[in-house]
Amino acid sequence: MDLRGYLAMMVEEGLVTKIEDSVDWYLEAGAIMRYAAERKSPAPWMMNVKDSMKGSSLLGSLYATYERLAVIFGLPRDTGYHDLVTFYQQNFGKRLKPEIVPSGICQQNVMIGDEIDILKFPVPLLHPQDGGRYIGTLNIGVCKDLDSEWVNWGTYRGMVHDRRSTGIWLGALNHGGYILSKYQREKRVMEYAQFYGGDPLCNIVAASGIPFGVSEVEVVGGIRNRPVELVKCKTVDLYVPADAEIVLEGTIDPAEVEDEGPFGEYPGYVVAGVIKRPVFRLSAVTYRDNPILPSTCLGFPTDELIWGLSVAGNVKTALTTAGIPISRLCIPEQAGWHAAIVSTRTPFAGIPQLIASTVWMDRNGRYFPYVIVVNDDIDPANLEEVFHAICTKCNPVKGVHVYPGHINSPLSPYLSRGEFKELGHGGGNILLDCTWPVTWKRDEIPERLAFDNLYPEPIKERIIANTARWGL
Ligand SMILES: Cc1cc2nc3c(=O)[nH]c(=O)nc-3n(C[C@H](O)[C@H](O)[C@H](O)COP(=O)(O)O)c2cc1C
Repeated sequence: MDLRGYLAMMVEEGLVTKIEDSVDWYLEAGAIMRYAAERKSPAPWMMNVKDSMKGSSLLGSLYATYERLAVIFGLPRDTGYHDLVTFYQQNFGKRLKPEIVPSGICQQNVMIGDEIDILKFPVPLLHPQDGGRYIGTLNIGVCKDLDSEWVNWGTYRGMVHDRRSTGIWLGALNHGGYILSKYQREKRVMEYAQFYGGDPLCNIVAASGIPFGVSEVEVVGGIRNRPVELVKCKTVDLYVPADAEIVLEGTIDPAEVEDEGPFGEYPGYVVAGVIKRPVFRLSAVTYRDNPILPSTCLGFPTDELIWGLSVAGNVKTALTTAGIPISRLCIPEQAGWHAAIVSTRTPFAGIPQLIASTVWMDRNGRYFPYVIVVNDDIDPANLEEVFHAICTKCNPVKGVHVYPGHINSPLSPYLSRGEFKELGHGGGNILLDCTWPVTWKRDEIPERLAFDNLYPEPIKERIIANTARWGL
């Protein structure tokens, strides 16, 4: 199913809501997305955005709830967080090569050269502080490695400069940034395509931590057990899903930079200011009739849950492969993607340190400066329990371990501006050990006074069976 197939199903199920009234691209569309994301409302699909071409629409915050992610994975709506992480672990290692098809519905309409005008699409100004209208939020950027067959997909923000160009931020530590740096060294221009829509799984895979050298399109095919159908772009030697909504084609000359930003980002602040970043110059734009532009209005809490789920899956696999006795793991969006919470049975000393260093070894996990380790009677996805554990079990002297010198995300709000901020320099990492000391004997360990772990099963069962009768 393509994006439209999922949307039809989700509208039917009340997970997406169509807004037919006219909505302004100037802040109003962003405010609607933020309102919906903060309240976990249905995803707002804005059918009539001012100044955009007739029939086009703007889809907000599709990935803001785990319920919608479950539906895209083909799982029941009420699949719990830990089962989503397990799905990630079990499926994101699958691969199936794409199939090239001669034509695609994504090329129903074509704008070439001077005809190009990306502002015909419903491109929003999302936050009042943003440096411009961002067409590139839930986009998928396609680039090919300079000296291998590896084709990389990734999600990189893109601010409209004018009708035919956008800024682009291919982060230096991401594969897209790595590939661009090769072109930079060779003083060559890189062909680039950016598509929107298609199977919504494409967005999830593109924003996930897929291993070096693996083409994300094969991961999507592997998970679906069906090859993604790709069509050749009109003006560059790159391929995009035939059922995409909108495709921007062009080039990035690494030597050409322009002011980009600021932009409201996932930690929930506008952090990086105006920075010189590469420019994506467009040679063609193709789109389906009535094109849909997916978008996300980042903030607190974030309205895209993709990235955290991907790190949770990868880190959990790394921890269990290393034989570290962990139980459950959560990357909560409420921490602005800055914390990993892991529960363990702690049978021997040093487990919290092993967990923390394994999180920080992961290529995305290194962006999570806070690692919180709890005993396995705590559910890491239950932030009330976790907060209680931090305040009651983490010894303020012996349980807090500070590791200066690690890099953090360049978007970490507490980093000072400076020469190396773009590389995440200037912070460090911290481990909050909320486990009981291994030296304590069993009878020294205080028992948490909670219904679930305190009472004999028959008593609990009788109470649960009578809650309605007793008005509990
Ligand atoms: C909505 C959204 C926006 C993102 N923006 C950027 C960005 O501007 N630059 C960047 O380097 N990564 C960005 N990311 C994160 C990358 O997409 C993610 O790290 C991905 O794994 C990178 O893929 P790659 O390593 O194959 O390049 C964004 C992710 C999402 C979900």
